[in-house]
This record gives sequence, structure tokens and C-alpha cells, in this order.
Amino acid sequence: MKKISTLGTSNFSHFRHFYIKTMGCQMNDYDSDYLAQLLVNNGFSAVNSPDEADLILINTCTVRAKPEQKAYSFLGRMSSIKKGNPNLIIGMVGCLAQMKGPELLKRFPQLDLVIGPRELGRFQEILEGIDRHSGKIVAINLDLAPPQPAPCKGYFHKRITGHVSIMEGCNNFCSYCIVPYVRGREISRPPDEILAEAKNLLSEGIKEITLLGQNVNSYLWEGEGKKWGFPALLHELGNLNGLLRLRFTTSHPKDLSDDLIHSFHYIKNLCPHIHLPFQAGSNRILKLMKRGYTRESYLELIDKLRRINPDIAITSDVMVGFPGESDKDFELTLDLISHVEFDSLFSFKYSDRKGTSAERMDGKIDEIVKASRLNVLQDLQKKITLKRNKALEGRQLEVLVEGSSKRGGQLTGRTASHKVVNFISNNSQIGSLHTVTIKHSFLNSLWGEIVERKSVPV
Ligand code: 5AD
Ligand code: SF4
Repeated sequence: MKKISTLGTSNFSHFRHFYIKTMGCQMNDYDSDYLAQLLVNNGFSAVNSPDEADLILINTCTVRAKPEQKAYSFLGRMSSIKKGNPNLIIGMVGCLAQMKGPELLKRFPQLDLVIGPRELGRFQEILEGIDRHSGKIVAINLDLAPPQPAPCKGYFHKRITGHVSIMEGCNNFCSYCIVPYVRGREISRPPDEILAEAKNLLSEGIKEITLLGQNVNSYLWEGEGKKWGFPALLHELGNLNGLLRLRFTTSHPKDLSDDLIHSFHYIKNLCPHIHLPFQAGSNRILKLMKRGYTRESYLELIDKLRRINPDIAITSDVMVGFPGESDKDFELTLDLISHVEFDSLFSFKYSDRKGTSAERMDGKIDEIVKASRLNVLQDLQKKITLKRNKALEGRQLEVLVEGSSKRGGQLTGRTASHKVVNFISNNSQIGSLHTVTIKHSFLNSLWGEIVERKSVPV
């Protein structure tokens, strides 16, 4: 495992304006907020354009080939800014930085910092290292525990929704997935740190918190003679004063316990929405993926969730073109989608990730076949999403107002099931809950009329 190392020479001591470009998942958004707070606490200020920055950080994703390409092309653009401003510091952080390490410095001579996700807790030290040693830095140790963010007063002031990471890493090693290699082994954060962070967000005016982890269901903390599983943590967070809504993502079907399913009934501010990636509908492919569940056990979970709450929104991830996927396997995926009727679906073409076991598998699927399967799948899901949204017409739903919508005079918010609702209102406040009658449903949003204003606990 590589420790922080410094290479080369150049002068980094005078930079004070930063710009962070975030790619990828909500965990990366969370990590970028961590970095931004730390930089502000160290006297830096954020700028809106990379041209105005002395320090540019690119927080990268490597879960599929596409985000990786995006990161390289953004880095290319930033490198050309550096030609006109040689004192600019450019850092690549996150999963791609972890995967490629020092190789990135060779490929991109304009790059100064390469920092993996588990090293972010040492960012303060890295900053000091930049000033002291005036050299390039590679930090990709995977054994470090997730850090506790140092609150930066006012940072979340304008936001209604926020994130708290509860665990980091993954032990599952699904055969296609790079995450365990770039985010390390699972490690859960202590409940008191999580609660303190959530309270800080609430004190800043946040009303809805999403708990984050690669696999939140395996959250486990043992200490002071007590064991905390995920349902216990949810219960404790659900009781926080002023928390209107609680969410979590992502769940693994093989670890979704009955206790957790029951939480949707007992914890009143826990939103009725679960993101439960199924990846494939064929047992043969699920086995090759090393997912640890079958199509039948996945469907059983869906039944249990809908028995607890028939209105629960279920979203998922699916892949087409996994090595060896036959037409028959693909039909089983379509069949599962038709059977479950997900509220929405993130769908991807399988892409090889270096070092995973799927990369070494035979039976790679032609890109044209993948693209055509993806089209068929997405057409099917669009019909289902629209049908499920249409079924909400006439219903009265509670909406948390998050801001003004792109069209003038309209407000926008989300239902507890995480659907976007736009509506007109003259006296609604951002950050408050309103009951809205759904008048028209579209593929990506609902249109409604306000019924009443609810008082918001503060
Ligand atoms: N190819 C395509 N999609 C992938 N995902 C993860 N790894 C790969 C890969 N190698 C998808 C899965 C996962 C989501 C975050 O990205 O569907 O749930
Ligand atoms: Fe990747 Fe599987 Fe872990 Fe999810 S559970 S992060 S898909 S290895």
C-alpha cells in the first residue's frame, strides 16, 4: 500500500481559490462537500469557474467506462487552462485516482495531486504537504477509516436535503464491479459521529437526510457492549428533532433483513422508497455476477416490501450485455422488469473494469447487441414509469419544497417516494411540507395543485 509520497518540484504556496468538479455517485457529492468544507475552514474560497481557480479538484468515478472517459476529457480541458497559468494546482481525487495512482502523473504531466477516496481524511495533511514540500503528491492508502467532517458554519445554509455517509467500502466483490478495489473493505462509522453530523445538518436548516453507503444494509458498529445494526441506527436518526424525511441508499438484496423492511412501517419519517439494484433477471447471470441471490428471492423481497407498504417506490439498477448473456437471459431481465414494475430504473451496458473477474470471462457481448438490448429495456421501462406516474393522478401527496422550478412562478419539490412535483403557489416556503393534488403526470415529473400548508417542526 502506498503512503503519501512527494515527487518533483514547483511552488504551490500562494493558491487560495478552489473549484471542485464532481462526477459519479452521491458518495462523491458527499466527499466533495467534505473537501470544500475543509478548504473553506483553511481560508480558501470557492469560485464558480475553473478559470478563476488556483486549485482545481476533479472528483472522479470509475464504476463504468463512460464516467472514466469523462474524467479524462475534463482533466484535458483543465490541463489547457494550466498552460496559461503555470501556478494552477490540479488534483484528481476519488475512485479513478485510486485505480490509476501514480500512472496518472506520467500520463498527465499537468496533474499535481492523485488522492484516493480513503485518503480524504488526510487532506489537511496533504494541503500542508503541498505548501511544505512543494511537490506532487500521490495518496492511495486504502486502509484508512472514513473521516469526521469538520463542520463549516453556513456551508449547507441554502440546502434542504443533505447526505451523511454511514459506511464506506464493499466486501461483496460482485464479478463486474471495481468498487471494492477503489473504496476498500467495508467500515462502518460510529453512531455518535453519524448522529453529530446529522444534527449539524439540521442546525444548518436541512430537512431531509439521505444516509449513504455502498451497502448500507451491512452497517454494523460494535462498541461499549452494544451492537448497532442498520435498523437501530435508522431508528435513532428517525427521532432527531426537525428531521422531516430520512432516506438511505444503496441496499443489497442479499442483506435486506425483515427488520429493515419493518422499519418502513415503524419509522414515520423514513420515506417509502428503496433503491434495490437487481442487475439481471436470469439466475445463470446472477450467479456469474456473484450477486448472492436468485430471481425468486429478489421477487420475494419485492412482495415483502409491498406488503409492508403497497405504495412504496422501488427503483433499481440493471445491466445488459454481461459476458455470456444470451437472448433468453435478456428476456428474463425484461420479464422481471415487467413483473416488478419499478418506479424508475438506472440501466447500463456492461463494460469491462480492469482487474475484476468478469473482465477475464469468455462470451463478451458485441457493443451493437448491448446497445440494442439497452434500447429495448429502456423503452419498456419508460412505459412502466409513465404508467406508475399516471396512477398518481388525482392523489394528494406530501411534497417537500426544494426550490423554484426552471419555469417562472413554479415551485419544485419531491414526494416521499422521490418523484419530482412542480406546482404554483404564492405563499409556500422552500423547506416546508405541502399537500399537493397531482393533476398531470409525465415521465420525469408530476404537475400538481397545492391543497394546504402544513406547519413545519423546527
Ligand atoms: N459495467 C456496467 N455497469 C456497471 N455497474 C457497476 N459495474 C458495472 C460495469 N462493470 C452498474 C451497476 C451498479 C451501478 C452503480 O453501476 O448496475 O449498480
Ligand atoms: Fe459493487 Fe457489488 Fe459492492 Fe455494489 S455490492 S459496490 S455492485 S461489489
